[in-house]
Amino acid sequence: EKGNHKHFMAKEMHEQPSVMAYALNNYTTPDGLKVEISGVDLDFTRYDRVTMVACGTAYLAAHVAKYWFEQVARLPVEIEVASEFRYREPPIAPRTLAVFISQSGETADTLAALRYCRDKAETILSIINVPTSTIARESDHALPIFAGVEIGVASTKAFTCQLTVLAAVTLLAARQRGEIDSDREAELLAQLGTVPGAMVDALALEPQISSICWDLSKASDILFLGRGAMYPLALEGALKLKEISYIHAEGYASGELKHGPIALIDETVPVVVMAPTDALFEKSVSNMQEVMARGGKVLLISDAEGLASASDGIWKSLRMPKVDPFVAPILYALPAQLLAYHTATTKGTDVDQPRNLAKSVTVE
Ligand code: M6R
Repeated sequence: EKGNHKHFMAKEMHEQPSVMAYALNNYTTPDGLKVEISGVDLDFTRYDRVTMVACGTAYLAAHVAKYWFEQVARLPVEIEVASEFRYREPPIAPRTLAVFISQSGETADTLAALRYCRDKAETILSIINVPTSTIARESDHALPIFAGVEIGVASTKAFTCQLTVLAAVTLLAARQRGEIDSDREAELLAQLGTVPGAMVDALALEPQISSICWDLSKASDILFLGRGAMYPLALEGALKLKEISYIHAEGYASGELKHGPIALIDETVPVVVMAPTDALFEKSVSNMQEVMARGGKVLLISDAEGLASASDGIWKSLRMPKVDPFVAPILYALPAQLLAYHTATTKGTDVDQPRNLAKSVTVE
């Protein structure tokens, strides 16, 4: 069932170009110009705010979606990890859309958070991979992510498919709220349509990534930095690495570096900077220079343009295909996953069944 792959995680990473394209297809009109969610009647003029609740990688998908919803649909979004949300019992304002994201649809804390919102939120929407799951059944609307069965404990294709569905929902919300016109919607959908091909190119970086990972596997701490919607990707890169390689890793918003974490930097700490060229690129570069000035070893993940302007003094680089900044978080998930995977396999850890972890956390 793993095909030619050594692990389910590898197989699932490599499935991403096709499952992402399939997921996108399921949320667009046949001509690909408009978002269409068949059978679900979502009306974003009914909401003033969105609350998104999830755990782990699904929470990080919500974190990316916060940037999208706020920037593109101009709808304020609160995000929270389910284990905190459920016991904090926050007041839920009228006209709130509550969104629960879960691959399994069975995560205990996420389900409890959903039940808390039941008679409080205007609408309960879930984004799930398992359509028959409890979370799907208890929602007003459940949107499948079409990732197919995910077996590896480290979530990979579910994350990129969650992001794909969230991006489509963002465009629907933006159109319904009059924030984008149909040309812009078609243009952003076309940008999403470029991602599967770009994913194939990103996967082709694997030999290069695996050679970098020999060095990473010797580190005891690794930092990941990102800005804007790349900040949650930095968190995801660190989470993946911790989960399967057991190396301590932290993700930070690049601008937070000088508020503490920069004290950790020396020549033994690799720093992975996720920085596609976008409006914040120059700011990421200056944070990267602060790291290098303290002897930090920078691995810069960017596109050709970014690498051409900022490679001086860096330790290693990965040249990603250039995509629109809107879709970059989906694409940059792949190098984050591949770094974790190859570091783990270099160390010889059990990638599909990492110690202490379960695929679905159905108890608190
Ligand atoms: O099934 P869920 O999406 O609700 O699971 C949430 C987390 O347990 C899950 O994403 C976990 O963080 C993964 N192992 C991350 O790779």
